[in-house]
Amino acid sequence: MKKATHALVIGNWKMNPQSVTMATRLATDVKKGVTRVEGVEVVLAPPSVYLEAVHRVQNGSKSFALCAQNVHAEKLGAHTGEISLSMLKSFDVTYVILGHSERRAEGEQNQAINKKVHAALKEGIKPVVCIGEQKRDREGHYLTFIETQIREVCAGITKAKLGNVVIAYEPIWAIGTGENATPEDVHEIKLFIQKVLFDIYDRATANRVRVLYGGSVTAKNALAIMEGGLVDGFLVGGSSLNAVEFSNIVKATL
Ligand code: PGA
Repeated sequence: MKKATHALVIGNWKMNPQSVTMATRLATDVKKGVTRVEGVEVVLAPPSVYLEAVHRVQNGSKSFALCAQNVHAEKLGAHTGEISLSMLKSFDVTYVILGHSERRAEGEQNQAINKKVHAALKEGIKPVVCIGEQKRDREGHYLTFIETQIREVCAGITKAKLGNVVIAYEPIWAIGTGENATPEDVHEIKLFIQKVLFDIYDRATANRVRVLYGGSVTAKNALAIMEGGLVDGFLVGGSSLNAVEFSNIVKATL
């Protein structure tokens, strides 16, 4: 059966690979691996110094879109070491990951992430906002934690713009650990995210937000999480560094 909307699969390369030559090769191999795949939105998030090289591999094709791993909220100016939205736009970047737990671990907080979300929406780049708990507890405190993250990162976003926001549920205990959340866990959180958005906005608006899962996604577990979790796709870390594995994850979402 043909799905109503395309799945979204983003490869978050983090601080990999080691050279621009390797980045070019990885992007080229992914491009080859997904050439005949239709019906999935494939996105690559290389380190920003590799955006130009990966953009060259993309070469105007629709085989994959580009994503940045972070951005600064200001337009330009005295912000040493930072990158602006207009710089990303010069490489046709479509998405930007915001609030990844590895950045939150360095001190980034919901308010700063919210500022970046507003700035990205204004410039027409779609934010992929990461949320997720450190650990689970029987009392359900993790749900309150997730609700606060959603409310604070979405503060002030209009109904009209919310549809361009993607939420990636990435439980910290599942990132890079080989221990993925079960399809049931993922489904529970997908429904919970929609409920929180429904409380803030309305059902139609809540349903327009795509929800991804991230955390030790592999070609082996992708299908079960997709089907059982009813998510709109994946944010893939480690497995996105292997073009064959990543292409198989993409195919599992069809
Ligand atoms: P992982 O990372 O797939 O290596 O667990 C996911 C992420 O951090 O986006």
